[in-house]
Amino acid sequence: MEFSLFTTHLHWLLLFLASRGWVSDAQICNASAFANSYEQLYKYLGLGGNDNRTTYMRPMFPGQTYTRVLVDLYVTSIVEVFEKEQRLSTQVKMITVWFDSNVLWNSYKFCQILTIAAPRNLFWRPDIVIAESVKTEIGTVESSYVQLVFFGYVVLPEVLSLNTVCKLNLYRFPFDTQSCNITIQSVAYSNVDLKLETLHDTGVLTNSSKQSFQSQGEWELLNISTSKSKVFLMFGYADQLIYQITIKRRPLLHVINIILPVFFFLVLDVTSYFIDTDGADKLSFKVTLLLAISVLLLILNDTLPSTTYELPLIGIYCSAIFSLIGISILETILVNFLRAKGAKILSASAAVTGQDDGVSGPPVDQDRDQKEFQIAMWWIKVARITDMMFLILYLLTIVVFLSVLGKVWYIH
Ligand SMILES: *[C@@H]1O[C@H](CO)[C@@H](O)[C@H](O)[C@H]1NC(C)=O
Ligand SMILES: *[C@@H]1O[C@H](CO)[C@@H](O)[C@H](O)[C@H]1NC(C)=O
Ligand SMILES: *[C@@H]1O[C@H](CO)[C@@H](O)[C@H](O)[C@H]1NC(C)=O
Ligand SMILES: *[C@@H]1O[C@H](CO)[C@@H](O)[C@H](O)[C@H]1NC(C)=O
Ligand SMILES: *[C@@H]1O[C@H](CO)[C@@H](O)[C@H](O)[C@H]1NC(C)=O
Repeated sequence: MEFSLFTTHLHWLLLFLASRGWVSDAQICNASAFANSYEQLYKYLGLGGNDNRTTYMRPMFPGQTYTRVLVDLYVTSIVEVFEKEQRLSTQVKMITVWFDSNVLWNSYKFCQILTIAAPRNLFWRPDIVIAESVKTEIGTVESSYVQLVFFGYVVLPEVLSLNTVCKLNLYRFPFDTQSCNITIQSVAYSNVDLKLETLHDTGVLTNSSKQSFQSQGEWELLNISTSKSKVFLMFGYADQLIYQITIKRRPLLHVINIILPVFFFLVLDVTSYFIDTDGADKLSFKVTLLLAISVLLLILNDTLPSTTYELPLIGIYCSAIFSLIGISILETILVNFLRAKGAKILSASAAVTGQDDGVSGPPVDQDRDQKEFQIAMWWIKVARITDMMFLILYLLTIVVFLSVLGKVWYIH
């Protein structure tokens, strides 16, 4: 059971301070006394402006040689996921807390003031960076203050607009779940000097991130989990805090835009077997379907990166259906050819018979007519059987293909 370090500290400190009479609610100040206390406290903490406080030495907790820095990272929105560039753009709230013995005060003496805001450039701040960052910007107007808490904590809340590298696995696009890391580390301090820890545990992070999650866009936040690691610096290791963000795509848009239309084109292609006209109409109809799919493939091409390890299933789906329709066009051409051959023999023999009827009717010609008629009928029969067999095979292939694909794609 992971217990929040901050809460442990806080409880301990509150108990300690209460036992010394530093915390009580006995005194209630009036306005002028409060204003006076506020000024006194500023002076007491040496925040007057012309003091020579050092802002470069890291503060230490009494009895420790290192500085413990506690960090919380809340994801407030997923701005965009760039599939092609393999990047993730997020808005996060990062709260950094550390202990500074210079900011301890007895709130009892200062009108129950528990926290005050102080200029941030008067304080040492941990040099925390994000390892995966391509570009980090301040998400809102940068506050020029830090918050001081009477038991010696300095709290630095920041809203950051992050652009991080994330290896996206698009195999199951658009039914995919992505997991991206945001790694926090210090650049200059090794883990002998600076220890990074989480402020709250992951349940709290996930819950409050979900609560403050603002965009109801394509992505849904599933989980934030944290783990610790370390990275080798020049002379030793630095602590790393890894926030693993799991997000899930809402697939509806892509289903409507690509998967359903392609499927309907396939259905139309199958039903076009029952169009009862001559071959040319059928052929132009099928070619139109093929063109429509190639337009959808172009759209898909804009979304998916060209450098995925495995071909995404949606690519297999679209190109397989494209090929199926292509094959069915070839088959239509073949059947048309067979039919045309039969019809040609038939019409030729009819013409010959008509000519013969005009002159005389020798029995030898009638025999030949019968034979040619049979050959013509044979061609037409072959065409019909080919068509029938192909339809059965085609349907079978489609059913097998779609069920295998669906199993891999949607059901884990
Ligand atoms: C405010 O409180 C102080 C002492 O706590 C007292 O001396 C002062 O007269 C009070 N002022 C007002 C306006 O009540
Ligand atoms: C701050 O300045 C005062 C004089 O202005 C000096 O006596 C004191 O030693 C200085 N403190 C530090 C930490 O430099
Ligand atoms: C993200 O962090 C986890 C540990 O929390 C690690 O197992 C995984 O490999 C990391 N992923 C990447 C892409 O670095
Ligand atoms: C987070 O929220 C879930 C459900 O809303 C709840 O069951 C869980 O206890 C919460 N976790 C924490 C740490 O607050
Ligand atoms: C979130 O991550 C934590 C820690 O890795 C894990 O225990 C938990 O099961 C995950 N929750 C969900 C909903 O995936």
